[in-house]
Amino acid sequence: MIREIVKYPDPILQRPTEPVTEFNEELRALVDDMFESMYAAHGIGLAAPQIGISKRITVIDLSFQKNPEEKIVLINPEIIHKQGKQSEEEGCLSLPEIREKVSRAEKVRVRAQDVKGEWFELDGDELLARAFQHEIDHLDGILFIFRVSALKRDLLLRKIRKMQKNGEW
Ligand code: NI
Repeated sequence: MIREIVKYPDPILQRPTEPVTEFNEELRALVDDMFESMYAAHGIGLAAPQIGISKRITVIDLSFQKNPEEKIVLINPEIIHKQGKQSEEEGCLSLPEIREKVSRAEKVRVRAQDVKGEWFELDGDELLARAFQHEIDHLDGILFIFRVSALKRDLLLRKIRKMQKNGEW
């Protein structure tokens, strides 16, 4: 089922999510909905709060449906190692039309559970590392516009307010 994407400034996007404790059919259905909703919105990553569910779950597919092996589900993820630096433009389904360069680690290692509750570790660099950091930030209630300088953030917030006023948000 395709669920509606929650947009800034919905407060659910700015509060930390609850850990997942039950690995059941309901969780699997939610993960399926997250992939479906992400593809429908043309995204490559989606965190549960973005469909109004304050749980520590995120899905990523950098291949955008081209390669099933690139579908990643992270439940209760944590970044356990960071290395290097990169700065690239990011966007977010909850902040349509907004793009800005964000400074991130170049490589990260993530520890997470799968839909069955099994723990695993995964390494990512470049775009995947950025996706891990962007999505895990969502689970901590942090949007990428709060990872840029105060000056840039003010400009972005002003742009959002203007779009809201014009009914474009
Ligand atoms: Ni996002």
